[in-house]
Amino acid sequence: MAAQRIAVIPGDGIGVEVTAAARRVLDAVAARHGLAFSYDEYDWSCQRYAREGTMMPADGLDRLRGADAILLGAVGWPGVPDHVSLWGLLIPIRRAFRQYVNLRPIRVFEGVASPVRGAVPGRVDFVVVRENVEGEYSEIGGRLNRGLPDEVAMQEAVFTRAGVTRIVDYAFTLARTRRSYVTSATKSNGIVHTMPFWDEIVAERAAEHPEVRSDSEHIDALAAKLVLQPERFDVIVASNLFGDILSDLAAAVAGSIGIAPSGNIDPTRTYPSMFEPVHGSAPDIAGQGVANPLGAVWSAAMMLDHLGHPQAAADVMAAVEACLLEPGTRTRDVGGTASTDEVVDALLRHL
Ligand code: NAI
Ligand code: MG
Repeated sequence: MAAQRIAVIPGDGIGVEVTAAARRVLDAVAARHGLAFSYDEYDWSCQRYAREGTMMPADGLDRLRGADAILLGAVGWPGVPDHVSLWGLLIPIRRAFRQYVNLRPIRVFEGVASPVRGAVPGRVDFVVVRENVEGEYSEIGGRLNRGLPDEVAMQEAVFTRAGVTRIVDYAFTLARTRRSYVTSATKSNGIVHTMPFWDEIVAERAAEHPEVRSDSEHIDALAAKLVLQPERFDVIVASNLFGDILSDLAAAVAGSIGIAPSGNIDPTRTYPSMFEPVHGSAPDIAGQGVANPLGAVWSAAMMLDHLGHPQAAADVMAAVEACLLEPGTRTRDVGGTASTDEVVDALLRHL
């Protein structure tokens, strides 16, 4: 079998540390399962921006195009405005490669104390399906009268029938492989054009998936319920902004943002999908060797699944679970004392 090509973008700060960790785990699991991967590593980052004035080269997207998947660490560093680093690298990749699904699984693992008293380990297991290419994160808008007392900023949200339909269909199809329950995040009481439109399409698609139970919650109430009854959810489908906020909240409920993974997925498989931990570059702990690598490792497991290696992915997740059970093989953010390398060593032992 020809090697599958993986483009690796470690990025900034702990992105570099956790990507190296995920690579070690991938090498081990590939050897065990007889999988062949080849890696192309790119130094696209805020450091590159400081040196050369752009986050990635002009032909960056073309270099990634031929990859089977992209593994990314985290991007962003003090001194480069976050909108510059985000719109110079991550967002162009998500959009050019039509990664319209942002998949964010959340679990409270045995051994990890959630800050939420009711979040019992083993009982909380859901997925946020975030729309990833349209919605509130649009380039449409502008600013007038800069610096004057009558300065104006306007930003248009963009919701298309095609865009909402495909993300909602993805959520319903995913739910059938799980507990067959979809919750739609809305705000149609306050946002009177786009959100009723979203609700209408959710209702249309729900009728096409009668075997899946579904309901709809306003985003504010849903945020409260995620804290109060996190075990109740299975698949949550949300617009770009709502999904972004909900998934960070959910990651906190799960005990640490250091564990949370994500996949930016083109379900049509026309373009490479991209897998990355939810967390950022964490300048406060970068360089100390204490970053939790499990968000990146779980993201790599999602990548293995996407590339057609579900057994290898399951092995990685079993190793993650085993690691979190033992205080000695947990990083500081999840109540342990282990370094990044010690966690990886433990993962390799479990594998
Ligand atoms: P952050 O996720 O980098 O850090 C938030 C807090 O969580 C920090 O206290 C950090 O130490 C902790 N933390 C995060 N990941 C951890 C891990 N793996 N292990 C242990 N602790 C961890 O978010 P912040 O501080 O808002 O952003 C820092 C930079 O990262 C900014 O430039 C931001 O734009 C960028 N960023 C990039 C993302 C991406 O590349 N997808 C996502 C979020 C932020
Ligand atoms: Mg976010």
